[in-house]
Amino acid sequence: MQSLQDKAAEWSGVDTTLAFAVDEDGTNLFQKLGPQTFINLSTNFYNRVYDDEEEWFRSIFGKSKKEEAIQNQYEFLVQRMGGPNFYSQRRGHPALIARHRAFDVTHEGAKRWLHHMQQALDTTSDIDDDSKIKLINFFRHTAYFIVAGVESRNQNQTPCKNASGSHPCK
Ligand code: HEM
Repeated sequence: MQSLQDKAAEWSGVDTTLAFAVDEDGTNLFQKLGPQTFINLSTNFYNRVYDDEEEWFRSIFGKSKKEEAIQNQYEFLVQRMGGPNFYSQRRGHPALIARHRAFDVTHEGAKRWLHHMQQALDTTSDIDDDSKIKLINFFRHTAYFIVAGVESRNQNQTPCKNASGSHPCK
């Protein structure tokens, strides 16, 4: 049976190893880019999401306050990219699949999410090309990992597991 990571790789077109280049020795995007860049990126991203002309996509975020969504996102990114773990201190384990179950996360939604993230990456200053590529590969793989996880949870109601089964829900 295909693991969630395999599905994420197939659907996103990004190999799992490439997606986790953000974790390679010597790569710490938080140290490289600094906290303000992640705040700017998340603000830029959510400004686009909340202004989306596509009502079906905008409405997925209808129950969330923009300021809180921005804070959740940048604290998660800072932590995931090698910075302080303020996200987990405030919110607990990221458990991305479990947290996204409440929302209508589909292939179409992932595509639209990634469209806004690509635009946000391209228009946020001080992100060098190498970091941009590493981030978008991470985002692409993770978006489809979430889609695969939400789909499989909704189908069989079993806990999500990656190939090794040791690290549930990222
Ligand atoms: C939260 C949708 C992909 C990380 C949310 C929220 C929505 C949402 C509606 C609630 C906003 C809030 O109150 O924080 C989606 C959709 C996606 C997607 C439709 C398409 C696949 C991703 C990806 C990541 C991510 C790729 C990470 C790389 C997060 C995080 C939160 C969040 C960290 C905050 C969770 C919390 O603390 O409650 N997402 N998301 N999402 N999303 Fe996504």
